[in-house]
Amino acid sequence: MSGFVSFVGSGPGDPELLTLKAVDRLKAADAILFDDLSSGPILEHASAKADLVGVGKRAGRPSPKQHHVSQLLVDYAKAGGHVVRLKSGDSGIFGRLEEEIDALRAAGIEFEIIPGVTSACAAAAAAQIPLTRRLLARRVQFVTGHDVAGALPGDLHLQSLADPGATTVLFMPKRTFPALAEKLFATGLRPDCPALLAENVSHPDQTLQRTTMAALADQLSNEISSAPGLILFGELAETP
Ligand SMILES: C[S@@+](CC[C@H](N)C(=O)[O-])C[C@H]1O[C@@H](n2cnc3c(N)ncnc32)[C@H](O)[C@@H]1O
Repeated sequence: MSGFVSFVGSGPGDPELLTLKAVDRLKAADAILFDDLSSGPILEHASAKADLVGVGKRAGRPSPKQHHVSQLLVDYAKAGGHVVRLKSGDSGIFGRLEEEIDALRAAGIEFEIIPGVTSACAAAAAAQIPLTRRLLARRVQFVTGHDVAGALPGDLHLQSLADPGATTVLFMPKRTFPALAEKLFATGLRPDCPALLAENVSHPDQTLQRTTMAALADQLSNEISSAPGLILFGELAETP
């Protein structure tokens, strides 16, 4: 008889940002397949008998292919028991959740999805920035800065990204940001539009750098750290 899979969003890294349901599923799991960004102290909630399997994908490093990860998930679930698939932030945001769901459905395996605190919301909270602002920011958009090959996606909707009435959060943004900024300036976004680079959000080495689009594009064309980071831009409220 097949087991059951819980997709669990681990939040941005600080174990105190796990939900109660996430902790419950981690304690109950027979096996946990986890990403790089959802490891560390979060895994201390796992039972001592659980198999802990790292399946992390990180830019610029050799990583397991997605179809191998999906197959491994199916194999663990078919062996029976309760499998947790632990993904950073919220598993439905740039987590390739759909591919793993498809694999489970094709194999007839039941699952549930436990939401998590996305790094986008955690970054905004850490910097004391509301993602929406009455009259100023009527929309929030979460956008990936890279495609499957690591390049700037060619089909980004530049007018939406240059909309002064939106707050934009770029995931995996750093390598392609200078090229994106150039396109956005040509589409009408002002170079002094406020921007925030948030790295290692919720970790002890978190950094939050307030800057402008033009200054950040210049900075990232010279130097990029390997820390996980997000870029927020728009009419970001100033920290007092
Ligand atoms: C594959 S995506 C997963 C996003 C995740 N599902 C979420 O909701 O936060 C990985 C990217 O999320 C962002 N990210 C995740 N955790 C982060 C953190 N603690 N600090 C900064 N950025 C983070 C980075 O842009 C990273 O490259």
